Amino acid sequence: MLIVLSNPTFFRNNGYHEPCMHEGLNTPLSGYFKKPDYGFFDYLRDHPAIQSMFISSMKAQVRSTHLSSSVYPYDQKLSASRESDEISVGIVDIGGSQGELLQEIKASCPGINGRMIVQNRVETFDSMATKPDGIELMAHDILTEQPVKGARVYHMKRILHDWADDKCRIILKHTVSAMDRDWSILLIMDAVLPMRNASFSQAMGDHSMLTFGGKVRSEKQWKELLASVGLEIVKIYGGPEPEAVLECRKV
Ligand SMILES: C[S@@+](CC[C@H](N)C(=O)[O-])C[C@H]1O[C@@H](n2cnc3c(N)ncnc32)[C@H](O)[C@@H]1O
Repeated sequence: MLIVLSNPTFFRNNGYHEPCMHEGLNTPLSGYFKKPDYGFFDYLRDHPAIQSMFISSMKAQVRSTHLSSSVYPYDQKLSASRESDEISVGIVDIGGSQGELLQEIKASCPGINGRMIVQNRVETFDSMATKPDGIELMAHDILTEQPVKGARVYHMKRILHDWADDKCRIILKHTVSAMDRDWSILLIMDAVLPMRNASFSQAMGDHSMLTFGGKVRSEKQWKELLASVGLEIVKIYGGPEPEAVLECRKV
């Protein structure tokens, strides 16, 4: 709360520039703690009790909205198979908390082919008492090379809004490198802001992300960001929640 209240001062002192993670202190959060490149998830790692509350809040949202299965035809896309000797990977949920989304998809789409993998920072998995059945947990830093190659679906739910464009490009480039052009799909589940007349809650969502160096993007901003890393939006699936699913392919 104190950091959010310090936002106006931070932006006045920094010439009202958009926060850029690579510029070290140039986010209100890192400026407040006077730690270059210190991000929201570093703060959570350093405060396990708050980290645990954050994970619970993510779980609660999945349970209350069932957003994924109501918006995108996962069953249809993930039941496809292709001839290969290897056991294929169906879906990789990048930054997928403790596997809630994959559990929801698994329960609602019985015909899914291939392995289901959830990736996150190791501390996100540390506190888990039980592992979700049929879902692999993989410690992985999204800012490094994607180790799972050629999956049918790479999924990022509420990930890219946490990051400025420069960091998003790093995350996306690692994903694009792992994608098979003729087979892999990238699904980005995030808000798509209207170009004009954003609601108060949409504007507040953008403002909160700005505190940590992230942002909520319009369709134009998504297109520009994705094109800059060799991705194209195939279709945007809208739903009852602020988040949409942007289906993307490697160009
Ligand atoms: C806003 S949460 C979204 C969680 C989940 N996708 C959902 O929608 O419920 C962002 C997630 O990104 C993860 N994350 C942040 N930085 C990461 C990194 N460098 N590598 C892997 N995961 C990261 C966080 O731990 C957190 O689970």
